[in-house]
Amino acid sequence: MKRIFSGIQPTGNLHLGNYLGAIKNWVALQHQFDSLYCVVDLHAITAPQDPAVLRASTIEVAASLLAAGIDPGRAILFNQSRVPQHSELAWIFNCVARLGWLNRMTQFKEKAGKNRENASVGLFAYPTLMAADILAYKATHVPVGDDQKQHLELARDIAGGFNALVGAEFFPLPEPQILGAATRVMSLRDGTAKMSKSDASDYARINLSDDADTIAQKIRKAKTDAELLPATMEELDSRPEARNLVVIYGALAEKSAEAVLAEFSGKGFGVFKPALVEVAVEHLAPVTRAMRDYLDDESHVLAVLDDGARRAHAITKPIMAEIREHLGFLGDSLG
Ligand code: TYM
Repeated sequence: MKRIFSGIQPTGNLHLGNYLGAIKNWVALQHQFDSLYCVVDLHAITAPQDPAVLRASTIEVAASLLAAGIDPGRAILFNQSRVPQHSELAWIFNCVARLGWLNRMTQFKEKAGKNRENASVGLFAYPTLMAADILAYKATHVPVGDDQKQHLELARDIAGGFNALVGAEFFPLPEPQILGAATRVMSLRDGTAKMSKSDASDYARINLSDDADTIAQKIRKAKTDAELLPATMEELDSRPEARNLVVIYGALAEKSAEAVLAEFSGKGFGVFKPALVEVAVEHLAPVTRAMRDYLDDESHVLAVLDDGARRAHAITKPIMAEIREHLGFLGDSLG
């Protein structure tokens, strides 16, 4: 049986990278498979969070996912900390994963920066909690953007390590699903840097909460070059900003990048940018509008998360009981 799991952090605004790299695919997959989508508040506290801001962001991210089309009648939508099995399994996986495996994680190196001694142990162990998120449900497929690939390889190593430890094919080896045309959306200010929530400049990203004027302004100011658009993608290899905008256009309009170039080759950004504004606004405005409506009805969002947490718990509880048995733990977990 195929089961989908994916997660998203409630830190800062969701942006076009999250949308095209992950959320859009989640919406499509929920119609075909059992799916769980999780707002990962436990991951968020690997860096300090203001409690009031974290609470508000958790609701806002859930509202964005509903606005983007996650249907709680099909998919399970919940926040991670409600289901204690995530933390329980993460500890077990901390005892399966080797320091050497975690030492290779590039995201830890990027996030910890120069002051590694001062990073939380939680930030270092971040990928073991991620493996626990997925495997607590024996999920088989994980739709994510390109930047999560290494974490998923680690989740597979952990699943294999646990299976070897207990001498059983207990966990599936979860497969990454890096889908769609825009698996790595780049910053609007620097075509070599990933679009990210933590970029100091808000002009580097398009947020799902941006109104049409803001989207237009950000695209108008996006870094480009003075050349015309070429006929092939290869010719954009040395023009990362131009390439990124073409990829974004294609992903939003659901056309291949080649088809976008067929339409715009020989034209400059004076023509291309207004067209990009039009597709971006056309696709994102309904999401932004729906998100505001959900945020006006916070109690509805809270009820969806509550129902999701209960459904998630019902799936993981018996799986955890088996894990406990394999390890020789005495008695039931009370969580
Ligand atoms: P997070 O919150 O950083 O991002 C959520 C999803 O958005 C994708 N993404 C992008 N895709 C394309 N271009 C970009 N510029 C871009 N930026 C972000 C990410 O790849 C991700 O799919 N560790 C995860 C959350 C997580 C998780 C999990 C994911 C926790 N547990 C279990 C899958 C399974 C993270 O921080 O994602």
